[in-house]
This record gives sequence, C-alpha cells and structure tokens, in this order.
Amino acid sequence: MGYIEWTDSLSVGVELFDKQHHKLVDMVNELYDALVSGRTNDVMGEILERLIDYTVEHFRSEEEYFNKYGYPFSKRHKQEHDSLTEEVFSLKEKFFKGDVTISYETMTFLQEWLQKHILESDMDYKAFFNGKGVY
Ligand SMILES: [Fe+2]
Ligand SMILES: [Fe+2]
Repeated sequence: MGYIEWTDSLSVGVELFDKQHHKLVDMVNELYDALVSGRTNDVMGEILERLIDYTVEHFRSEEEYFNKYGYPFSKRHKQEHDSLTEEVFSLKEKFFKGDVTISYETMTFLQEWLQKHILESDMDYKAFFNGKGVY
C-alpha cells in the first residue's frame, strides 16, 4: 500500500485528470518509498523534479479544459495552481541549496498539497465537466 492510497474518493469524474492525478499520487508515493528506504539525495531530487514537472504539465491540461469549456471558476482555480506551483518550486530550490531535506514533514506537506487541491478544488469541476458531456 502506498503512502497515499488511490481510491475512488479522489476521482474527479474526468478520465484524463484522474489518470494524471493517479500519476502524481504514484510519484509522491515513490518519493516516500525513497525516503523510507534511505535512498540518496540525488535519487530523491530526481523524483522531486519529475513530480514538479508533471504537476506543471497537469495544471496546464486542466487550464486548457477550463478555457475550452468556459469553466466559470477558472480564474480562482488558476490562481490556486500558481500558488501551489510556487510552493513546490520554493521547496525544490531549498532542497537543492541544501536548506531542507526530504523528511516525513516534507512528505506530509506534499501529501496535503496534492490531496487538498484535488478534493477541494478539482472536485468542484466534476459536475461542470460531466454536465458538458466530458468524462
Ligand atoms: Fe487543479
Ligand atoms: Fe488537478
């Protein structure tokens, strides 16, 4: 079982975004496993970078759909993406400077950072997209 368990309660009702979220969950779990098994900073840094790159790609996908279908809460949602991106970029910078390590505390931060956004903000577009025939 992973650090974050993928369950249907995380499903936002749009297959593409579920797949992307699942991949993000997998990467957070991969980082957690690396921490638990005492992998090197190089290994953890590589996972962190991959997680951040994919996050940027995922946010872009959601925003493209917002524009394409005229999602009414697009502005607020994009602002949240921007601040979430800033948070992980700042973590990455501190990590590579050696100011922070990947610790259990860092993992709790990443877990909340990802889950909270999916459950609170992404979930809000479920009914909208499904109403447009997008699943
Ligand atoms: Fe989002
Ligand atoms: Fe998302």
